[in-house]
Amino acid sequence: MSHGVVVLISGSGTNLQAVIDAIHQGRLPATIRLVVSNRDDAGGLARARAADIPCRVVPHQAFPDRASFESALIEVIRPHAPDTLVLAGFMRILSPLLVRTFADRLLNIHPSLLPKYRGLHTHRRALEAADTEHGCSIHFVTDELDGGPLVAQARVPVLENDTEESLSKRVLQREHQLLPEVLRWRAERRLVLTSNGVMMDNVALPSGGIVFDYEDSIHY
Ligand code: GRF
Repeated sequence: MSHGVVVLISGSGTNLQAVIDAIHQGRLPATIRLVVSNRDDAGGLARARAADIPCRVVPHQAFPDRASFESALIEVIRPHAPDTLVLAGFMRILSPLLVRTFADRLLNIHPSLLPKYRGLHTHRRALEAADTEHGCSIHFVTDELDGGPLVAQARVPVLENDTEESLSKRVLQREHQLLPEVLRWRAERRLVLTSNGVMMDNVALPSGGIVFDYEDSIHY
C-alpha cells in the first residue's frame, strides 16, 4: 500500500503542487489521499481537482470554537488513515486535540530558519533584522506553534536589494524542493518521530535537523 498523505492548505497551494509534481514524475512513492482546506477560495483546491485528488473544505468560521472545528477536521481526515499529514500553508493554529490525534505523523513547512521567526511575516522580519541568510524549515508538529522537532532546513542568502517579494520567492523555490524530499524519507520509512526524538535511518537527527546550504541539491 503506497504511503498515504493528506495535505492541509489555506492558500495558493504551490507546496501542494510541488508534491503532486514529484509524485507524477516518479520522485515520490506516495499517494495524496485527500486535500483539506479551511477556505473555499484556496487556489490549492483547483490544483488538487486538476490532479483528480479528493478535496474537502472545512470552513473554520462555520464552527463556534477551535475544538469543534478540529473535531470536524479529524472526522474528515481519519477515514483516509494518512501515514503522513502535511500542513502546507495551513493558516490555522492547531490545538492539542488534532496534534494528539495525528501525533507522530504531522509535518509542517514554515518559511524561516526555525527557531527564528515563528509565526507570520517571516520574510519581512528577516529583512528588518538585516539577516544575511534566511530559509525554510520542516518540523514535526507539537502543541508549540512552529516549535516541534526539526527535520530539515534549506538556507538561502538574503541579497542586498531584496524585497519581501524577492526573498519569499527564493525561499518558496527551496520549499518546493524540500517538502517532496522529506516526504520521500517518510514514504521510504527512513524518517520517524520517536520518544527519543527525530530518527533518520535509525540515527537521531541533530536538533537543527538536516541542513541544506545555498547551492546544495536537496537530496539525502
Ligand atoms: C509557504 O511559504 C509556507 O511555508 C507557508 O505558507 C506558504 C504556503 O504557500 N506556511 P502555498 O500555499 O504552498 O503556495
